[in-house]
Amino acid sequence: MAVFIPKDKISEIKNSVDIVDIISDIVLLKKVGRNYVGLCPFHAEKTPSFTVSPEKQIFYCFGCGTGGNAFNFLMNHDGLSFFETAKMLADRYGIEIPAQTMSPEQKRRISERESLLAANKQAMYFFKHSLLSDAEGKIALEYLKKRGIGEDTITIFNIGFAPAGWDNIINYFSKKNISHELVEKSGLIIKRKSKNGYYDRFRNRIMFPIFDVSKQVLGFGGRVMDDSLPKYLNSPETYVYNKSRSLYGSHIAKESCRASETVYIVEGYFDVLALHQHGIPNSVATLGTSLTQEHVQILRGFVGKNGRFVLVYDSDAAGIKAAERSIKVFDKGYVSAQILVLSEGYDPDSYLFEFGYNSFMNAASKAKSIILFLIESAVNKYGLSVEGKIRIISDLKQPLANINDSVERSLYIKELAEIIGIDEAAVMEKVRIVSGNKSIKSNKKLSDKMRDKNFTLKGDRLERQIIAMMLQFPEILSEIILRNILNQFEDESLKLIGQLVLKQGEHKDVRDELHAVSTRGNIFVSDIINSIDDREKRSIVASLSIGEDQWSREGCLKLLAQFESIRNRQKKTLLKKIRAAEESNDYELLLELLKKKQIQVRNDLKLS
Ligand code: GTP
Ligand code: MN
Repeated sequence: MAVFIPKDKISEIKNSVDIVDIISDIVLLKKVGRNYVGLCPFHAEKTPSFTVSPEKQIFYCFGCGTGGNAFNFLMNHDGLSFFETAKMLADRYGIEIPAQTMSPEQKRRISERESLLAANKQAMYFFKHSLLSDAEGKIALEYLKKRGIGEDTITIFNIGFAPAGWDNIINYFSKKNISHELVEKSGLIIKRKSKNGYYDRFRNRIMFPIFDVSKQVLGFGGRVMDDSLPKYLNSPETYVYNKSRSLYGSHIAKESCRASETVYIVEGYFDVLALHQHGIPNSVATLGTSLTQEHVQILRGFVGKNGRFVLVYDSDAAGIKAAERSIKVFDKGYVSAQILVLSEGYDPDSYLFEFGYNSFMNAASKAKSIILFLIESAVNKYGLSVEGKIRIISDLKQPLANINDSVERSLYIKELAEIIGIDEAAVMEKVRIVSGNKSIKSNKKLSDKMRDKNFTLKGDRLERQIIAMMLQFPEILSEIILRNILNQFEDESLKLIGQLVLKQGEHKDVRDELHAVSTRGNIFVSDIINSIDDREKRSIVASLSIGEDQWSREGCLKLLAQFESIRNRQKKTLLKKIRAAEESNDYELLLELLKKKQIQVRNDLKLS
């Protein structure tokens, strides 16, 4: 898989990468003992079971069983190929990969992503230059000034200007010898339908580059400076830009979200700028979509497990709609979110410029949880007549049923019953009718999941222990070979993993590696993981390595002796059973037992 990057480059990359550094970009990690823990970015959870070992340079989630090294993390999380990951890490750690070592196919794939990102970045510089240094940019600068956007904000957010005209961006890229096909893929220009050629998508607009957390430019939003329509124009989704995963301002908000454990989620570009300028940098905007589960996952990595989410809306109607939609999104991410609706007619931008920081913070401190907000909105809307109460329950039964957490759900049902003054059981019943089927379904899903997990965890307990020992205490490998332990394994996956561990052990002087004092610990396990293509097996390796068992040579030998004696006993029992089956003429059973015997003999032959 990595044939086209020279081996020494791969090792150089591996030696430079620090898994804690990489994962910290995405998950808020806390040090616990020798490891770090955080909320798993691969599944929704309330209590952290995602574990990162700096010593072994691996991660493992005890909740969903995903595990691997830094490469696997990035490949899983960002959907990158091995090669793309290697390239990205090389860039990050300043390691140069000679271009001629790439195959044409690899060059193409790498360049697809990279060249889009590069084109976007160049466009960003072009827009910036147009805003700050071109005569035409004057009007745009004026517009920003009029809206209270300061120079610092313009710099920090890299705001720019797309001049009027149909071919400014086209000409800019032509001069740089960048192909129109590529620029079209980035969404910056559009192919003409009637005749040949292209035209600029963004014309005469204030340009907002949209970044990811690693400060790559994914796309743009552009606003007109008058009343023409559409008011905002956004980049189309491209190979690098996915709206349901992107949040405007996330690269700038991250640090302060971590520090404050709070994030404000707003709707517009100017809202983020206004919040930032008023000393509330922990804010992001969704980009013309409603909040998705992916957004919540990303933000959870910013604010942590007890973090506070405040959704800010400029009208009750927008707030109610968003609240209804987001209950599901949040419930799955196990975060309690709040809704803040500003006084009628104000969005965060206009509110802050008119009333200031204190007033905003004061309003935010009174933000209600999503469901309470819905309850109160319904009460305001329908009143507390008998008729009104019926409608309130009717509006709320679905959102309440959507809360997966049963404790939380019953608390809110109780709350609703109290607020509108009717019997809790009656509300409960209504909710149960809507949720009936659903909760049965979700329970089933859960048990399926548990079964799957047990499946990966199954296999002989002793065999698992032996693999764990090999991974955590490689001194024992010679003993494993000597006693031919692996051939006595029954679980084929574990056996294969064991063989890979042995192979890795041959490659290196394990002892040296173990004793090598490196700030990043030893990468024996991480190397083994690199040699495994199968996701499930990788996770098994991670899960068995990350434990902190204390191994001694003596303990290891005991374990091996125990294993051998069990296998011997099984052989004897099998013989007995075969004899019994012969005597009772149970041919079906006999056949089955003989098959087992055959396997045993085959393994024994390999033993000698
Ligand atoms: P300003 O008028 O500049 O303050 O913008 P706003 O953010 O207050 O506008 P609004 O509340 O109308 O829109 C909120 C967000 O929705 C914007 O920031 C855009 O992301 C998106 N949006 C608004 N209008 C349009 C549009 O015409 N087209 C698209 N694609 N998105 C829009
Ligand atoms: Mn606005």
